[in-house]
Amino acid sequence: MSQKETNQKKNAYSNRFYYPQDEAIEKPFNWKQMTRLLEYIKPYSKTLLPAAFGAVLVNMIVRLLVPILIGQFVIDRAIINQDYQLLVYLIIFVVALYFINYLANHFRIKTVNVLGQRTIHDLRRQLFTHVQYLSHDFFDKRSAGSILVRILNDVNSLQELFTNGIINILMDAFMLIAIIVILFSLSPQLALAVLVILPLMFYISTKLRRNIRRTWQNVRLIRSRLNSHLNESLQGMRITQSFAQENENAAYFEGVNQENYERERIAMKKSAYFGPIIEMSNAIGTVILIAYGSVLIINQSMEIGTFVTFAFFLGMFWEPISRLGQIYNQLLVAMASSERIFEFLDERPTVKEAETPVILDDMKGQITFDKVKFSYDDERIALHEISIEVKAGQTIALVGHTGSGKSTIANLISRFYDPTDGSVIIDGHNLRDLSLESLREHISVVLQDTFIPDYSQSHHKPLRNCIKSIKNNQSIFH
Ligand SMILES: Nc1ncnc2c1ncn2[C@@H]1O[C@H](COP(=O)(O)OP(=O)(O)OP(=O)(O)O)[C@@H](O)[C@H]1O
Ligand SMILES: [Mg+2]
Repeated sequence: MSQKETNQKKNAYSNRFYYPQDEAIEKPFNWKQMTRLLEYIKPYSKTLLPAAFGAVLVNMIVRLLVPILIGQFVIDRAIINQDYQLLVYLIIFVVALYFINYLANHFRIKTVNVLGQRTIHDLRRQLFTHVQYLSHDFFDKRSAGSILVRILNDVNSLQELFTNGIINILMDAFMLIAIIVILFSLSPQLALAVLVILPLMFYISTKLRRNIRRTWQNVRLIRSRLNSHLNESLQGMRITQSFAQENENAAYFEGVNQENYERERIAMKKSAYFGPIIEMSNAIGTVILIAYGSVLIINQSMEIGTFVTFAFFLGMFWEPISRLGQIYNQLLVAMASSERIFEFLDERPTVKEAETPVILDDMKGQITFDKVKFSYDDERIALHEISIEVKAGQTIALVGHTGSGKSTIANLISRFYDPTDGSVIIDGHNLRDLSLESLREHISVVLQDTFIPDYSQSHHKPLRNCIKSIKNNQSIFH
């Protein structure tokens, strides 16, 4: 195989296991979607949410108070005036503050996580329940894997937003404003001088960090494709070997493997820039603080205590900026995930329950197909005007070529799909008028697929009996 051919194979491979809709990592911020997401927190807006905010508030007050106590009181009053009694009081006060902070933090972490887990739990339950009621055509269009990813991964990726994101966004915005106000009230000149690093910090925490996170997400995507390919290869090993496709398969594998290496390399390279740049921006701030701050102290336009408090607050400055950047990124990820989740939630069953469904207590089993036409995909026709009459109690067998529509007839009797034209009638009732639950309660279907869920503990008697008869090999298969 020439190098060119090998490369073509590699590229061809990269397109397999690739689902564009499922791979969108971020989407622009969208208020409508955000309000819909916030609905999930609403049930806790009178209990967990205010409790978490209370704890956050205590934590913020303590964090803002301690540097002021150290600079303005410990240094400028107690130390400079050698007032030991005041010093002891201050130490006791700081210890008490830290203890309260410890309690508040403990409470906050617990509450915020319970809040996050509850919302995720509610969302996942709603999604699963909803998906279960969707009609068969929904599952025909999607692979089980892609549904799984939405119920597990997409819901998980909202978790971070629900746990820390929403609480932190308010806390950090408040903290940032408070720190800026305090810095300016301590020394407007020094605050102005030091805040030249602000744009750099914003740039790092949003753009750069986002860029790095994307490269790591790219790594994760390629890893999942590597897994999918490996899974397929191992399961299909007999086929690969019996058609002597080992080389072909190895070339495909090498395509993804190489791509994996490339993406990891890029991610590592970008990460290597990030940490040092953060340190640099902190360093610039510190150098300005030392240089200009010392001049102000020597000129006696600033007290030493004020300088210390200022240094403390400057040290605290990075955290809220960095976290706000992080939350912003989280929001974009949440937009992509929630869009996929809401797409499922907005999906309606195509087989609809009648407005006033007829409930059958008993079913005799007279089945009529009246000029039934059916197509799965509106392209190929599976049933062309079929008319059948089955009497109650009659046993019939449908015999025909593979793909001739035998299973399709069984699917229509259970109303997994509605006919495109014509009608299916059981005991004189059009299936569209019957309650779905009562219809399916009276029919046991043994599917061609060998997959049988473990329903041995089920409370549903017909289902249990059906499983039992399958196990005893007494049933009718189609
Ligand atoms: N879920 C589906 N989506 C799209 N087309 C389908 C689906 N299931 C079946 N078909 C198509 O509908 C036609 C009838 O299929 P059906 O499964 O009813 O055949 P069958 O008679 O049961 O075949 P077999 O003997 O292999 O079980 C076939 O052309 C098949 O490819
Ligand atoms: Mg069949």
